[in-house]
Amino acid sequence: MRRFAIIGGSGLDRLGTLEISARHTLMTPYGAPSAALCEGLLAGSPVFFLPRHGDGHALPPHRINYRANIAALREAGVTDILAVTAVGGISADAAPGSIVVPDQIIDYTWGRDHTLYDGLNGTLDHVDFSQPYTERLRRLLIDQMADGELVGAGVYGATQGPRLESAAEITRMARDGCTIVGMTGMPEAALAREAGMAYATVSLVVNWAAGVGGTAVISMDDIYRHLEVGMAAVVRRVGRAIAVGLSQPDPALDPALDPASDSA
Ligand code: HPA
Repeated sequence: MRRFAIIGGSGLDRLGTLEISARHTLMTPYGAPSAALCEGLLAGSPVFFLPRHGDGHALPPHRINYRANIAALREAGVTDILAVTAVGGISADAAPGSIVVPDQIIDYTWGRDHTLYDGLNGTLDHVDFSQPYTERLRRLLIDQMADGELVGAGVYGATQGPRLESAAEITRMARDGCTIVGMTGMPEAALAREAGMAYATVSLVVNWAAGVGGTAVISMDDIYRHLEVGMAAVVRRVGRAIAVGLSQPDPALDPALDPASDSA
């Protein structure tokens, strides 16, 4: 059976519009996830919700137990993850307020527990990550976005944080081809792939990245303002994407329907 989960990021610690039917406090071989897993209905669709930074937004990006989060979702039977992230805009089309559904990622993080294959349980696999996001889920998200506000492809640069980047770091990331910059895209996407779950990210741009767009200093007030204005719309779109996704044929029953990354 197909089960969707939303992983919420900054500005989405709780899903106000979720009619909660159960809260699951889970423990995994990797430890405890960021919070209890909420199960309920979002605009009529069954969904699980997990706030990546914990209930009170207390966990910084490098302290999140990404492995436990993914393992808990898998234990709950989740097959499809839609991850919501807040990011800085690097390329000219990723202005604050816009929404990006990236199709590629570059990992600049370090020191995070980043794999389910750490050699401790006697198994090893080198999963294919050529296309880090599941195209079927990206399509679902893109189809719900209005013209003009959407960047339907791009490279998510995942940095360590919690500090923001220097202007020179962003210049280097722009040279690398990054469209947006955030702190939580990795190792989450890779762990979902290792766990065999479909995964895509929708990113709300909440500021120009350092040194871009003529801003001398990035203000948290501006970031919060963009989160407040934009996140409700992102959630509505994610809800619609899930409704459409659940109405489509289950790719697990007919793998031919889906691109290769789905069966990873
Ligand atoms: N850099 C990294 N992460 C972010 C940013 C940024 O500028 N904005 C929101 N998350």
